Amino acid sequence: MGLLENKVALITGAGRGIGKAIALRFAQEGCNIAFTDIALNDVVMETEKELQALGVKVKAYASNAANFEETHQVVDEIVKDFGRIDILVNNAGITKDTALKRMTEEMWDAVINVNLKSVFNFTKAVQPVMWKQNGGSVINMSSVVGVSGNANQCNYSASKAGIIGFTKSAAKEMGVRNIRHNAIAPGFIITAMTNALPEDVRKAWESLIPLRRGGTPEDVANVALFLASDLSSYVTGQVIHCCGGMNC
Ligand code: NAI
Repeated sequence: MGLLENKVALITGAGRGIGKAIALRFAQEGCNIAFTDIALNDVVMETEKELQALGVKVKAYASNAANFEETHQVVDEIVKDFGRIDILVNNAGITKDTALKRMTEEMWDAVINVNLKSVFNFTKAVQPVMWKQNGGSVINMSSVVGVSGNANQCNYSASKAGIIGFTKSAAKEMGVRNIRHNAIAPGFIITAMTNALPEDVRKAWESLIPLRRGGTPEDVANVALFLASDLSSYVTGQVIHCCGGMNC
């Protein structure tokens, strides 16, 4: 019997990267998976197939997490298709890194809307569902830079710090209904996002990490599994760092 047998998880931005690893890990534990991405391209459809091969119910939905109306529509659709939502993982995220002096209003707005407003959109749309069910686990993807800050990431680190404030507030507000809210703060995780960095920059980052390696999406997925499952039944309002000791 898996840790998430017969549960339903909604994971945003799970077509690839960390979100995909979380979807696969949850599916291995018997969880049915509804996931979104910005468009249903070949990569996303391949992810849907990989998940279906694990024998659980799976469906991919095209939805812009930054859009309030679209989010409510997709959540309605998912509830019709799956009947319930036990776990919400707010994972969709982007970067538009540059020094503040070069950062445009557009770069600021895009990152805040995709990373932070999306958490408001999905949590608000899913809250009535979990409220009726008397329980749920919401997992928000923050980042170590939301805690420590980082040069050239004023927009990104502000969005990730905002997620932490949101998570702690929602935990206090919805604990009465056994709806738990926690955040994960990954450090340097090897995905398409970080692979875009030049090799020397990547190596410099890795040399500063106590465990001397970048993390894998699977490292983060295991933390998400803990937070999604009853193993964390008395854990809410927390930020768990998954960073090889980078931020300890
Ligand atoms: P990724 O770029 O590989 O995957 C992000 C996914 O989100 C993609 O499938 C993308 O299409 C989707 N997405 C982007 N905008 C969207 C939107 N508006 N609506 C719906 N889906 C959208 O990124 P990665 O590395 O897997 O990151 C996942 C999360 O983890 C992000 O929130 C990121 O900020 C966070 N994170 C990543 C770290 C890393 O080192 N890779 C470190 C700390 C946090």
